[in-house]
Amino acid sequence: MKLALPTGTLLVLVGPSGSGKSTFAGRHFAPELVLSSDAFRSRVAGDEADQSATGQAFALLHAALEERLAAGRLTVVDATSVQGWARARLLDAARRHRRPSAVVALALPLAVCLARNAARADRRVPPDVVRRQHRAMRISLTSLPDEGFDLVAVLADEAAVAAVEIASDAGGSGS
Ligand code: CTP
Ligand code: MG
Repeated sequence: MKLALPTGTLLVLVGPSGSGKSTFAGRHFAPELVLSSDAFRSRVAGDEADQSATGQAFALLHAALEERLAAGRLTVVDATSVQGWARARLLDAARRHRRPSAVVALALPLAVCLARNAARADRRVPPDVVRRQHRAMRISLTSLPDEGFDLVAVLADEAAVAAVEIASDAGGSGS
């Protein structure tokens, strides 16, 4: 699937822990384009798994997003964004700055997310949390096309994820 991201686009990744959001972001985009909730948690708490830092981490993420959108820079938000309200807040920012918006949902089977999570060396999330996030994502898939994003891509399996090509004028791999 070819995804064309116009200048200044906000790209919201959606997917439970272990769905491969950070891997996807790292493959297609230069690190400075990516706002990751984990990176902000780590900055706030010195620990990217510290959930008590979530509120402050997202405040910083949104502040950084505002700056990037104001400047018209392509920005990727790497957070689970499996809740409608989390996406609505991001979309609202893009709209206020009159920027294009896109969603890529990494809608991989629960078993894949659980297996990847279990095999992780860096940071493991409790399986129940992955299950809950996965359920929220599945519920989201029905509303996603009507939420107002300019582009919605749902990638249902690893082959679909692997086949993605990004066309953008900033940081896309183009392949
Ligand atoms: N992974 C994999 N094959 C892929 C994508 C990811 O084996 N095609 C592995 C990664 O190496 C990592 C794990 O699966 O060990 C989770 O991938 P990651 O990109 O970190 O998932 P995220 O969605 O970013 O998870 P989180 O929300 O917890 O940050
Ligand atoms: Mg990640």
